[in-house]
Amino acid sequence: MTREDQQRAAARRAAALVDDGMRVGLGTGSTVGFLLDELAERHPEARYVATSPRTEVEARRRGLLLTTLDECPTVDLAIDGADQVSPDGWLVKGKGGALTREKIVARAAARFVIIVDETKVVDALSAPVPVELLAFGLGATLSRLAPVQVRDAARTPDNGVLADYLGAFTSPSALAHWLDTCVGVIEHGLFAPTLVTTILVGANDEIHPPLIGDVV
Ligand code: A5P
Repeated sequence: MTREDQQRAAARRAAALVDDGMRVGLGTGSTVGFLLDELAERHPEARYVATSPRTEVEARRRGLLLTTLDECPTVDLAIDGADQVSPDGWLVKGKGGALTREKIVARAAARFVIIVDETKVVDALSAPVPVELLAFGLGATLSRLAPVQVRDAARTPDNGVLADYLGAFTSPSALAHWLDTCVGVIEHGLFAPTLVTTILVGANDEIHPPLIGDVV
């Protein structure tokens, strides 16, 4: 089973969770691309909140109806990919640069479902951990965060600067707490297990059982 087959399998299982009348958050990335294909095919009468301009464009192109968190402050379900998944349910997200919007949508969701291929499952999370930084005082923020590398990338849609924290860490919780307290850090890509309802791993023509939580 190729990586793409696994992405598609996880996306298909997640798409089956979307029912008529739901409000659904859509993440960002190639796995979410497969999800959009599945949703376009099944076409439930749902409204979607996109976490990036890329997802917004791709969803519109497939005929999915969009809304915003301003119109709907909560969603029934959010579905997103991840860069790393640990056995205890911690995630690293943000390789695609949408981490802040993704975390806002995840927090607004009653259920947050992660779809990944098996290459994303790791024994322990490690650097890089994506961060979005305020442009003001960037030099001071970078010196506090070192080792950190600013990406050669455009600003985010919210005018943030994308970078990757490169330090070694053993406790995602401790690093997340420290990054939460660093002024100038808009958001970081560590997502705690408390945020995650289900992780669907596509492999071997099946979906592995969720690492945590239930498929509901
Ligand atoms: C986007 O900012 C990220 O959080 C993505 O969810 C993550 O990079 C997964 O992307 P792929 O599905 O392309 O691997």
